[in-house]
Amino acid sequence: MARKKITVVGAGHVGEHVAWFCATKELGDVVLIDIVEGMPQGKALDMREALPLEGWDCDLIGTNDYADTANSDVVVITAGLPRKPGMSRDDLLDANAKIMKSVAEQVAKYSPNAIIIVVSNPLDAMVYLAREVTGFPPERVFGQAGALDSARFCCFIAMELGVSAKDVNAMVLGGHGDSMVPLPQYTTVNGISLVQMVENGKLSQEKLDAMIQRTRMGGGEIVKLLKTGSAYYAPALGAVEMVESVIKDKKRVIPSAAYCTGQYGINGLYVGVPVVIGAKGVEEIIELKLSEDELAALQKSAAGVQELVDTMRKMGYVK
Ligand code: LAC
Repeated sequence: MARKKITVVGAGHVGEHVAWFCATKELGDVVLIDIVEGMPQGKALDMREALPLEGWDCDLIGTNDYADTANSDVVVITAGLPRKPGMSRDDLLDANAKIMKSVAEQVAKYSPNAIIIVVSNPLDAMVYLAREVTGFPPERVFGQAGALDSARFCCFIAMELGVSAKDVNAMVLGGHGDSMVPLPQYTTVNGISLVQMVENGKLSQEKLDAMIQRTRMGGGEIVKLLKTGSAYYAPALGAVEMVESVIKDKKRVIPSAAYCTGQYGINGLYVGVPVVIGAKGVEEIIELKLSEDELAALQKSAAGVQELVDTMRKMGYVK
């Protein structure tokens, strides 16, 4: 069977790492595209030269020409500006909407059957725009949010409790912004929920609240430290987890920015919800039973996404 073709749009830190992880996991042949001349070619060649050292097999090229991306099975869009310290993801709306529009047009033209995974910020608004510009069915266009945010929550829990991150299963819903909704009742350490841990005295409510807050601000914490850009290892690997679930039809359950049609009382909008990801893209949206507070927080987060979509409408990016 021929290998699958994966295109990564944007050869910045996130894009190059998506390409690298896809190659080293041997998920398929990889095309790394960027508008900057020479840069994707140089990064791709360097990566390709590294592959023999571990015996990894795949074709990996860099390009500035969308013709080279033709007939991709999966396209990961990372193109766009990252945040600078003090900026929110929403401050990137205008600049990145312009970029996303032109990228999505090219992707739709050259890879009409692709599954698109969006990573660019502000995430939920950018997925909405990519879906509208491509005209693809919503199940084939979705965004990375929960994979990253849940990994961060998972990491903090493992650090706090001194347990293997492998045994922590975290669930974070909502938009990929500061109002995201970490869910302690659905976050477990080998099956034991954090709510139960607080009840048993294994974890204090204060420590749990602090981890929730650190997760919400997780992207900003890295931006503040780096000063010149935003996180890339966790965002890239989070996206690759989704690519892998599509390519291998693994049907992983990963919270992702998916197009809601009434689930959680959200309609006609992309927001982070738990989904089953398989060869067809988003194959199912899972509706968890939420407390009133959790549901209110999720809907508040969705309202923030709606505001961004309305702003894009005013700017003329979406209908
Ligand atoms: C973050 C950015 C990339 O959360 O959205 O790190």
